[in-house]
Parts: sequence; structure tokens; C-alpha cells
Amino acid sequence: MQSTPLRYLRADFDDLEEYAPVKPLDVLAAEIGVPIDRLVKLDANENLYGPLPEIRAAIEQADLHIYPDPGQAALREAIAGYAGVAPEQVVAGTGADELIDIVLRLTMPDAVVNVTPTFGMYQFLAQVNRSRVIEVPRDGGFAPDIEGIARAVEDGARVVFLTSPNNPTGNALTPEQVDALCQLDALIVVDEAYIEFGGRTATGKLAKFGNLVILRTFSKWAALAGLRVGYALCHPDLALRMMAIKQPYNVNIAADVAARAAIEHRGQIQEMVRSIVAERDRMARLLAQTGWLRPLPSEANFVLFEVLGRSALDVRDGLRRQGVLVRYYNRPDLHNYIRISAGRPEDTDRLVAALHHLEPA
Ligand SMILES: Cc1ncc(COP(=O)(O)O)c(C=O)c1O
Repeated sequence: MQSTPLRYLRADFDDLEEYAPVKPLDVLAAEIGVPIDRLVKLDANENLYGPLPEIRAAIEQADLHIYPDPGQAALREAIAGYAGVAPEQVVAGTGADELIDIVLRLTMPDAVVNVTPTFGMYQFLAQVNRSRVIEVPRDGGFAPDIEGIARAVEDGARVVFLTSPNNPTGNALTPEQVDALCQLDALIVVDEAYIEFGGRTATGKLAKFGNLVILRTFSKWAALAGLRVGYALCHPDLALRMMAIKQPYNVNIAADVAARAAIEHRGQIQEMVRSIVAERDRMARLLAQTGWLRPLPSEANFVLFEVLGRSALDVRDGLRRQGVLVRYYNRPDLHNYIRISAGRPEDTDRLVAALHHLEPA
């Protein structure tokens, strides 16, 4: 037997808590034993309408044999127009996820603040970048504890991650909360991955606060999760540094042209977004009628439900056997909850039918 190469690696990776990603459709279909076209995928906050035909056409036309523009000139300009900032304030990446990593690699902070429960990637990438994670739990209504965050910054945290609207709780930051956070002596990263579905954007505050970084993505509203394209909006000095350390060709040509086509045809996508928001609210109303699913108010493209008087895991598994996929949580700060993405009307109908076919609790 050859000797293991692990002794050359970072020892702290021995107990890395791996990120739990969602599985691809074909793997899921094989696991569950249903055809792909019978799956109702409501577990990853994707946009089930899929990309516009105009976006597919733009990719078809793209010069795939040429390296992309490392300076991202056309893309930064398009995003700047969309977000209402200057191109020098924009950095695009392979999903918002890459921007989280770039921020951490640029800052190498001793400690970061993670406002839980929230998106798992901040914790994971902080660990990968050797940063200590100071958890500041949200209160009973899942509002962030601004004083707790301030104390963590006093204790040495130099980067604060906050999601607005938050995943998985669905609530957004108020402008006053953003103001209070930006007074702190730390980079304040506001992740607006779901902003197109609700919530007030903090972009208007970029001119006032040099320590504010906003993350956005094309994964959710524009249905481009598979292409991996997101962006940061921030002070031009910080954007320049982010551009300097990123992988030169990070955003591939297909993602670049697709993102620009999405912006060009945003009117049509915004109609889709309105349908998803309507469906989110219909789903919450219908599921509340069960009497044992308690929806939390949501400004995103999903709803978090507290499962009352029965096991959320059994509900997740019972739905899964019928091809309906939802996300299940059972952690001390999120005990017995499921999160369900908003889909098309037919997806909600399949979900409701599957709930009726669950075995009695
Ligand atoms: C809050 C939040 N930020 C970022 C992402 C990832 O975005 P992207 O697909 O652009 O990497 C997600 C995806 O679920 C998310 O929930």
C-alpha cells in the first residue's frame, strides 16, 4: 500500500465541516426511483421556469473558443447599469459563492461574524480560509442581533456576513439595520442573492459607506444557477483589489453572455419573478391550511415552515418518495423546519397533492 499524501496537507482540514450541496437531477431521480420529469425540485431555491430562450440563443452565438475578458468590461458595465452603480464598483465571479471566497482571501480576517441560522457557505469558506467564526444567533423572530454583532466586531471580527433576505428564514434587513451595521469597524457583506423577490436593496448606501459590500447572483431570479455567475458591488478601491486577485478568467464566456442577455431581457424575467412571488404566497396560504405547517413571512423565493406536532424529517422523506424535494432542517436554532422553494403553479399543485398523500402523523 502506498503511504498517504495527507501529511503534506493542512492539518486543520482533517476536521473540515464539508458544505452539504444539493445533488444533480439525474442522481436524485435514480436514488428516488422516479423519472427526472416527475421530480418537483423545491429544495435549492432555483427558478424552475428556466432561462429565457433569448439567453440560450446568446450562448449559442458566443465565441466559446476565445478566453473571456479578464477585465469583464462589458459585463461590469451591464451589471452597473442594472444595479445603479458605476462599473468600477462591480466585480463578477463564478456565482456569489466565489465572491465570498475572494473577500475572505483579500482580508484573511482572524475572525468573521456569521449571523445564524443562515446560508452555510460563509461558515464553510471561513474555515477554508482559516478564519475563526463568531456565531451571533438571530432572535426568536430571526432578526439579527445588532448589539451582539457589534460585540463580535469589538472582539476582533473584521468581516460580517449578513443575508438579506436571509436564507432560510426569508426576512430582510431594514435600512436602519444596514446603517447601524455599517457604523462598525468591519467589512459588512450584505448578501442580496434573493433581492429580486423582495426586500430593500442596500445599494443606495454604497456611496456613504466604504465598508459595505453587496453580493448578488444571476442564479435565482435569472434561472442561471448552472452557469455560476454572481457579482459584488462595493467601493472602487476594494473592487480593484478583488479584480487583482481573482482568477483572471473566472467568469466563462457562456456565463458572461448569458448574464448580459438576462439584463437585456430583464422585463420578461421580472414577469417570471412576479409569478414566483405570487406562487410563494399561494403556497404559504395553502400549506398553512394543513394546520401543522406554520409559514414564516418571506421576501425571497422560498418559504420556511415550522412543522408542528409531527416530524419534519418524516414529512421530507414522505414527499421525497413521491418525487417532491424540499429542504429539511433540524438544528438547535431551527428545530423541525422545512424550507420549500416557490415554483410554477403546477409545482405547488404537485406539492399540495403529495402532502395530502402523506401517511398520517
Ligand atoms: C444567501 C445565498 N447567497 C449565495 C448563494 C449562492 O449564489 P451563487 O449561485 O451565485 O453562488 C445562495 C444559494 O443558495 C444563497 O442562498
